[in-house]
Amino acid sequence: MATARTTGYRPGLVDLASGQISREIFVNEEIYAEEQERIFARAWLFVGHEGQIPNPGDFAASRMGEEAVILTRDRAGAVHVFLNSCRHRGMKVCRYDEGNTTVFTCPYHGWSYGTDGKLVGVPFFREAYHSQLDRSQWGLVEVAQVCVYKSTVWATWDKQAPPLVDYLGDFAGYLDQTLDGWDGSDGGTEVLGGVQKWLVPCNWKFPAENFSGDSYHNISHRSVDLVGVGPSGSGRRDMPELQLARKLHIAIPDRGHQTTAYLLPSAVPVPVGYQQNSVVSDYFREAEESRRRRRGDWGRLITLVGEVFPSMAFLARQPRTIAVWHPKGPHQTEVWRWYLVDKSAPAEVKAFLRDYYIRYSGPGGMTEQDDMENWNYAHAASRGTIARRFPYSYEQGMGTEIENYEWEGFRLPGTVVDLTKATSSEHNLRNLYRRWAQFMEADSWAELATWRRPAQRAAAE
Ligand code: FES
Ligand SMILES: [Fe+2]
Repeated sequence: MATARTTGYRPGLVDLASGQISREIFVNEEIYAEEQERIFARAWLFVGHEGQIPNPGDFAASRMGEEAVILTRDRAGAVHVFLNSCRHRGMKVCRYDEGNTTVFTCPYHGWSYGTDGKLVGVPFFREAYHSQLDRSQWGLVEVAQVCVYKSTVWATWDKQAPPLVDYLGDFAGYLDQTLDGWDGSDGGTEVLGGVQKWLVPCNWKFPAENFSGDSYHNISHRSVDLVGVGPSGSGRRDMPELQLARKLHIAIPDRGHQTTAYLLPSAVPVPVGYQQNSVVSDYFREAEESRRRRRGDWGRLITLVGEVFPSMAFLARQPRTIAVWHPKGPHQTEVWRWYLVDKSAPAEVKAFLRDYYIRYSGPGGMTEQDDMENWNYAHAASRGTIARRFPYSYEQGMGTEIENYEWEGFRLPGTVVDLTKATSSEHNLRNLYRRWAQFMEADSWAELATWRRPAQRAAAE
């Protein structure tokens, strides 16, 4: 059982009964340190895309929380994730972003490791160690579990963590909208270009909650909407078909994952978008027709933005992209962003999307810049002695979520807020912080697995 704490995280900082959350969880150094232990050392984290390491010996740098890791494919073709730190004295054994190698040779004293993590070379092994060092005990530190899901690579440091598919739970169907082909085929994505990496001066939870479904902040993107840089070429970033759809906030309560989506009525014509370029236009129209045929009711769902707890976010549609919010101290986040396209898409489509993606997202993207400006100033303005006394409000739309939500014969997994009338809600954000508090309080996966929402828990007791 958890014991009462006087330092670090204290229950009550996330008060979902009142919809108030203390600013301490964003700016307090002790709480931040505890997050590293309780969240980032236990949860499944997104590490990269298989397309970054297609061949034996390929490697790509990544991060898990604050730790640098190496994603590699060994000579036998198996995928590994290792701590990027030499066992001898901690030097970073791989200082490149990506490449192909047979060994990682530590620059400090020269220990070398195979792409399967084994210590294969120790300078002066016979003379200095008298051949006594047990090399089998000094391989690179490897994650406890790794899982490749539809070309994406995930890992956890915790042996007790449930398999990734259980960790995702009912959220997998929503996540798949980012990882499956535009034509509804299984998987098949590739990373377009490299991984964008940059720093934002805010706590990692600012972007995490924004991508959980903060649809209230549209005012921030007013200028982008007016410019009309979207792939439809119209003044709105949305497609006209969406006027007929239900806009939904969807959360998986026992998992902490959430997304926003449009659900189309069962009979709605496939739009003729992307008018600026006929190759692109034809490609997407045909892909969308095929998706709706193949996927049935799921083909009526147009997923927008979402978050896998704790720190992986996606935009499922346009731009199709994955971000990870790597914590770097309480006051800084290192953002990594991957851009996805269907591997089978024509070169012209990929080129068109490359232009659009970087115009929208990333450090130079117009939409992402709007967001970062907010997080940057909100964080800085929340750090002071006086500011920290006042909680944030997450009271929007409390009690309006629906279980077993169904429209025109499609019942959606999770709890749903239908925004057709309400316009906005903070349901998804509360879901993120509910899970955050559970991770901070629970000492074991057994406890985390049996968490239920307060109403259910109360009814069961
Ligand atoms: S730190 Fe790597 S060989 Fe010494
Ligand atoms: Fe935004």
